[in-house]
Amino acid sequence: MQTSLFSGDIAQADTDAIIIGHLKDTPLTGAAARLDEACGGVISQLIESGDLGHKAGRIRQLFKLPGVQAQRVLVVGLGEAEKFGLLAFQKAVRETTARLLKSPAMRVVNTLPELPVKNLNAGEKLFQAGIASQESVYVYRETKEQPEITGLDAIAFAVDGQADAGLLAQAEAIGRGVNRARELGNLPPNICNPDYLVAVAGEIAGRHDKVDLEVLDDERMEEMGMGALMAVARGSHNKPRMIVLRYQGADKAQAPHVLVGKGITFDSGGISLKPGQGMDEMKYDMCGAASVIGAFQAVAELGLPINLVSIVPAVENMPDGNSYRPGDVVKSYAGKTIEVLNTDAEGRLILCDALAYGKEMNPASMIDVATLTGACVIALGHHASGLMSHDDELAESLLDAGRHMGDRAWRLPLWDDYQSQLDSPFADLANVGGREAGSITAGRFLSCFAEGVRWAHLDIAGSAWKSGKNRDATGRPVKLLVEYLRRQAG
Ligand code: BES
Ligand code: MN
Ligand code: ZN
Repeated sequence: MQTSLFSGDIAQADTDAIIIGHLKDTPLTGAAARLDEACGGVISQLIESGDLGHKAGRIRQLFKLPGVQAQRVLVVGLGEAEKFGLLAFQKAVRETTARLLKSPAMRVVNTLPELPVKNLNAGEKLFQAGIASQESVYVYRETKEQPEITGLDAIAFAVDGQADAGLLAQAEAIGRGVNRARELGNLPPNICNPDYLVAVAGEIAGRHDKVDLEVLDDERMEEMGMGALMAVARGSHNKPRMIVLRYQGADKAQAPHVLVGKGITFDSGGISLKPGQGMDEMKYDMCGAASVIGAFQAVAELGLPINLVSIVPAVENMPDGNSYRPGDVVKSYAGKTIEVLNTDAEGRLILCDALAYGKEMNPASMIDVATLTGACVIALGHHASGLMSHDDELAESLLDAGRHMGDRAWRLPLWDDYQSQLDSPFADLANVGGREAGSITAGRFLSCFAEGVRWAHLDIAGSAWKSGKNRDATGRPVKLLVEYLRRQAG
């Protein structure tokens, strides 16, 4: 899908559909006013009729308006102007674009960026509309034909001020990074296993000169002493892999930013088997990995002047005669011993070895992303990712990047008070800390393997995918990560 800036007379625009929006109790302006004038007021009559309703979100399609070249005009009610901020704007772009995916329209002019959006200037509106549109045209097709979804070829945006068309190329790269993460998340676990993730990383490396791929196989990791990761992997016939994608966009000597993503391609719980209900959704337990791959791809496409490493420990957690068990004590790559109290707390076991490996790169910052705890869904629901860090400045810059992109996180504490919940009589650490503050004790566990590093942890258990009948990966927190890294690039 191509994006561009629209200019010219909207009534004469050579396109299949036009998207316009209406803010409650405000007159139509710009392209919307011009269209209304061209068709003799049909649009304002639609609004006055009350057919757009009081609440935001209702969409009406007008067909073959007199005096208007485009066959379709989509009118969306946007609610009150004072409440029309970034999140509402993104939603309006996504929903109107999604509506057109199933129509015969292939080319669209979207005039929503002409409207005032709280705290956004023209460039920011164009940028966000570009990303949201790219996200909207993603459709899962790998194992299901969707002939009724015909898609869109081109979207042109009308903006109410000066905006650099170069922003659209950046928005496209970011949108594609988000969609990459979504597709990896949505793929079934019999396709998206550790070797599949290796192949995807290889494809990305093959496309960029500045990208190198290194893969540690099971024998190598055993040799290196990654006993925590290898313990989780033992129950599966799919061998574990550690994927290390390196992007060199700055001087070799410059310390890299390191992203680490939990890549459990399926989490059955292992011997501490999960209940059957909804277990299929544990295919999404590699969404952390998907997000650091998606963000990496976007950074490489943007050509940011930074060095970036994405590390993905890719492992399947299965019950088997050879599985690790509750009571086992394993030795991590960092040398710390861990008593396994629950084989379903496997994410922190693969991440602790990946973090210790990342630490060897002397990173400028290290951020891990993981669908780590059900407790995080209870604490924050599906709206915010959980953020934990000992570093206030790093935490604040990640929170701000998330706010800026409508991909929000919320901070939880990592106080020393929680550490004793991880005490074990038989090892340096236990892998679970009881029911209380489950997300924090998990973060606390990880922090023990990132000492001395500017490190933060994002728990995306609630934000990475939508559950239930219309389950779908969200691609979060790719936008937060890319925005953070863009700011590091200056
Ligand atoms: N992948 C799960 C966490 C999860 C559960 C994410 C549900 C999203 C939805 C993780 O590996 C896990 O099983 N965590 C356990 C930890 C517990 C055993 C301490 C959990 O949250 O129940
Ligand atoms: Mn688990
Ligand atoms: Zn898990």
